[in-house]
Amino acid sequence: MAKPVLLVTRKLPEAIEARAARDYDARLNPQDAHWAVDGAEIARRATEAGAAGILGAAGDRFDAACIKALPESVKIITTFSVGTDHIDIAAARARGIVVTNTPEVLSFATAECAFTLMLMAARRAGEGERMVRAGKWEGWAPTQLMGVTLEGKKLGILGFGRIGRELAAMARGFRMEIHYRDINRLPPELEQGAIYHDDDDRFLATIDILSMHVPGGEGTRKWLNAKRLATMQQGAIVVNSGRGPSVDDEALIAALASGHIRAAGLDVYDNEPKVNPGYLTLENVALLPHLGSATIETRHAMGLRCLENLDAVLLQGKAPPHRVG
Ligand code: DGY
Repeated sequence: MAKPVLLVTRKLPEAIEARAARDYDARLNPQDAHWAVDGAEIARRATEAGAAGILGAAGDRFDAACIKALPESVKIITTFSVGTDHIDIAAARARGIVVTNTPEVLSFATAECAFTLMLMAARRAGEGERMVRAGKWEGWAPTQLMGVTLEGKKLGILGFGRIGRELAAMARGFRMEIHYRDINRLPPELEQGAIYHDDDDRFLATIDILSMHVPGGEGTRKWLNAKRLATMQQGAIVVNSGRGPSVDDEALIAALASGHIRAAGLDVYDNEPKVNPGYLTLENVALLPHLGSATIETRHAMGLRCLENLDAVLLQGKAPPHRVG
């Protein structure tokens, strides 16, 4: 029997591509050309190939027009990401196309990235690194680049899902006090002593450091705005490794420039890969290029998740384990 055609939008780890090519007529993207930013191009290639499945990724444009234009042959879109804000799930559902993602396997790596940013912001690591590289370091000095410790600080986690809870576990090792804000309070076995807030203002006014782990989409657009930033304590720190659009960049840049917010660490941006130029001239912000899940181990595990879902739908005729739509 002919292998199902699988359209792969991005270059993937070698072992994942090999496994995809073993079981599918895989149309790979060895040069990692970023044609999938154009939804019409995804649909064109899927039609040309007669794709049964599409293995896409964060940043691809599976909007309503793309999904409408996909050929009848497409049964599943599996995204190499936990986030699904780049996919119009309702449009896929209306076409009977299954959508799956890669939950759980990236929670620790993404929490590690948030923790990296938290340390970089608190300990001025980006500034220090830039100083050394620029040949401007003149030697140790008692008052040079003094940051703040994380020990004993109140960490406020916005979105206490799997990633937020992994971050909390790490932060306990730094003797931080954990606070969280979410739609609902979690059971004690998941809270592990974290303090729940049912109100944004009280949450923001209480914490020393905010780490954001909310999904993208209209519901969270510009959640961290000028009003909420003003509610935060003088000298607080902001970290975002969730989705860029949930921060009002102009408001955060103003708060960083005035010093009301001591420092920030960002891994995600509105309209990636563009970065608001206001951040680039500020010393008190650490900027990473969406590295959240970028470990060898995690990217391998994410690839396996995609294949599990494809196999279920295209090879075994079963419900996929990680269906989101
Ligand atoms: C995700 O999985 O949603 C990440 O943001 C991409 O690494």
